[in-house]
Amino acid sequence: MSLLLIRNDKNYEPWLKAIKKIDPDFPVFTPESLKNKEDVNMILAWKAPHGSFDNYPNNKVIGSMGAGVDHLFEDPSLPENIKMTRIVDENLIGDMQEFVLAQTLNAIKNLNTYTTFQKEHNWKPIPYKRAPDVTVGIMGLGVLGEAVAKTLHRNNFKLTGWANSKKDIDGLESFAGDEQLDDFLATTEILVCLLPLTEETKNILNKNLFKKLPDNAYIINVARGGHVVDDDLTEALKNGKLSGAALDVFHTEPLPEDHPFWDNEKILITPHTASKSDPSSIADQVVENYKRLQSGEELKNTVSREKNY
Ligand code: GLV
Repeated sequence: MSLLLIRNDKNYEPWLKAIKKIDPDFPVFTPESLKNKEDVNMILAWKAPHGSFDNYPNNKVIGSMGAGVDHLFEDPSLPENIKMTRIVDENLIGDMQEFVLAQTLNAIKNLNTYTTFQKEHNWKPIPYKRAPDVTVGIMGLGVLGEAVAKTLHRNNFKLTGWANSKKDIDGLESFAGDEQLDDFLATTEILVCLLPLTEETKNILNKNLFKKLPDNAYIINVARGGHVVDDDLTEALKNGKLSGAALDVFHTEPLPEDHPFWDNEKILITPHTASKSDPSSIADQVVENYKRLQSGEELKNTVSREKNY
C-alpha cells in the first residue's frame, strides 16, 4: 500500500523530506518513482493535471495538499465515490490571520496610497480611520474565516460574517444564506473573501454585489481568483464605488504580465502568498490519516462531496 503525491509544479522534495523525517520507511511516491499503480491507496494532490487520478484501481482517498479543494473538484475525472481530505493546519491558520490583519490595517491607514505619493514626492496627509469605527465583513466562516474573525475582534474591528448557516463567533454579527446577503453587505466597509470556490460562489464578487456595499468599501480577496469578475472590480474602482482592493489570488496564476490589475494603483497585488502549506508542519497529519486509512479509522479533515468544500 502506498501514498502517491501529485503536484503540477513537481516540487516534491520538501514533501518527501518532511514525511520521511517522521518515518524513513513511509511508502510515499511520486508519479515518477511509483512502480505499481495497484499499490496506491491514498493520493495527495496540488493542482494535479486533469485525468491524473485515473487508473489507480485500489485508491481510496484523494486529499488536497492545501486548505482549498476546488482544484480537485475541477477535474472531471475525479472518481465519484472517493473519500476526500484537505489540510487544516495551525500555521496555515496563523498565517492567514496575520495576513488579513495586515491588509485591514493597511487599508484603514491608507498605506497603499502613500506608496504612490512617495513615488511622486508628494507630502499629503489623508484622513485615516480607527479599527473600532470600521466594520469588516467576512464572507466564508470556515476554519480560516472564523480564525480571522477572532484576530480582527482582538484588534477592535467591528465584525460581521456571512456563510451558509449562522455562526456563533465572539464579537461577530452573523448573517446566513442568500436572503441575508444584502443586509450583510449594507454595512461591510472592508470585505474579506474567504469563501470556498464552488458553483454557488464563482463570480460572487461582481458589480451587483459591489453596488450593495457602502461607498468607498475595500475588498480583500484571499480565497480564489474565480470569486471575482475582474472587469466589474476594475469598473467599481474606477467609478469610486470601491476605494481599493488587496488581491492575493487570480483567475490565472501567475497573474499574466499584461493584466490590467498590475497597473492599477488602487489594487495591491500579492502572489498567492497569504498562507502557504508548509510540508514540515503538515506531514504529521498526512502520516496520521494514512495510518487511519490502513486501520479503518475515520479520517481527519474530510471534505463534503455534496457541498464541494
Ligand atoms: C491555498 O490557497 C490553499 O488552498 O491552501
